[in-house]
Amino acid sequence: MATDREVIVVAGVGELGRYICEELQASSGFEVVVLTRGLAPNPWLESKGIRSFTTDYTPASVLQILNSTHATTLISCILISTPRYITVHTALLTACQQSAACKRLIPSEWIGDLETHPLKPAFYAASREPFRRVLEAQTEVAWTLFCLGWLADYFLPRAKTYMKPVLSMFPLDPDGWAACVRGSGDEGQSWTCGRDVGRAVVELCKADEWEQVTYVAGEWSTFNQAIKVMEKYHNRSMPRTQKPWHDVQRVLDTYKEGDEVTAEHEAAQVEEMSVLGCLACPKEKTLRQRQKYFSSVQFRDLEQLLQCASEMDFV
Ligand SMILES: NC(=O)c1ccc[n+]([C@@H]2O[C@H](COP(=O)([O-])OP(=O)(O)OC[C@H]3O[C@@H](n4cnc5c(N)ncnc54)[C@H](OP(=O)(O)O)[C@@H]3O)[C@@H](O)[C@H]2O)c1
Repeated sequence: MATDREVIVVAGVGELGRYICEELQASSGFEVVVLTRGLAPNPWLESKGIRSFTTDYTPASVLQILNSTHATTLISCILISTPRYITVHTALLTACQQSAACKRLIPSEWIGDLETHPLKPAFYAASREPFRRVLEAQTEVAWTLFCLGWLADYFLPRAKTYMKPVLSMFPLDPDGWAACVRGSGDEGQSWTCGRDVGRAVVELCKADEWEQVTYVAGEWSTFNQAIKVMEKYHNRSMPRTQKPWHDVQRVLDTYKEGDEVTAEHEAAQVEEMSVLGCLACPKEKTLRQRQKYFSSVQFRDLEQLLQCASEMDFV
């Protein structure tokens, strides 16, 4: 199908990717198409009328799709925690390099302050970090590592967001109405809701040049402050427990670089990041980039997000 709109390809549309797809689809200038392994039917994509292409993530397969769709930009939301991440993303990059027009790539990062803490969580040392070096070593494809802190959607009831709860690592459980704080709860965090991330990605797709790392944030705060905001908004006190640090440390100590990361390791490494404040996007740079790229996006803070959730079926 010929289109006047610029084609943006999103690879790996599960949870976060849906917000990016919806916001690209809602924009006037872009058409979104999706790459998938096609392991199972995806009724969501069909319901949205979004074209999808099945790929095995070899360079040849991705290249054929980029060229046949005349894509200009490739965005990855693929979630892989193993070194397979490097293989798949290198295939995406190679395909972009060889393509006729797809010369911009956003790899699947979507984390916090990766410039100060490039090796957090620790399992990134064998997945995301090596691929960052691959990106730096080439110049044919423009790229940016898009960072957002925590997804603020985790403060919302499950029914209001595409993001599934991650109670093994996120301290607040809005459905179970409880908090399990790691550390003091006063460590600095930042968060952004998935919808605002999608809107920001659309704005970035309009920009002529990208910086190597792009940050967005709806708010800088702490989990103790977030509990207070939730309690005030819902007029209800939230039962609170404290996870002993030695429970987290015990799991951290069993991980060695190169090990296959288990769900338990993954959770402990993110809990560690949270206590070290690694998920807080650097404020000065984030605000500078907000002015440069995202002046039309209203990044919502937690209170505004709770208000939207009470007024809308879905945020
Ligand atoms: N900052 C935060 O708070 C936060 C929270 C959540 C996620 N994230 C990040 O956001 C990104 C997307 O996360 P998500 O929660 O949206 O992920 P997800 O829904 O669990 O997975 C995204 C997609 O990845 C694809 N995929 C999975 N394994 C694959 C493999 N081995 N090879 C190729 N494709 C594979 C699948 O698409 P198909 O089945 O269609 O191929 C899947 O739907 C990740 O980088 C994640 O780390 C950040």
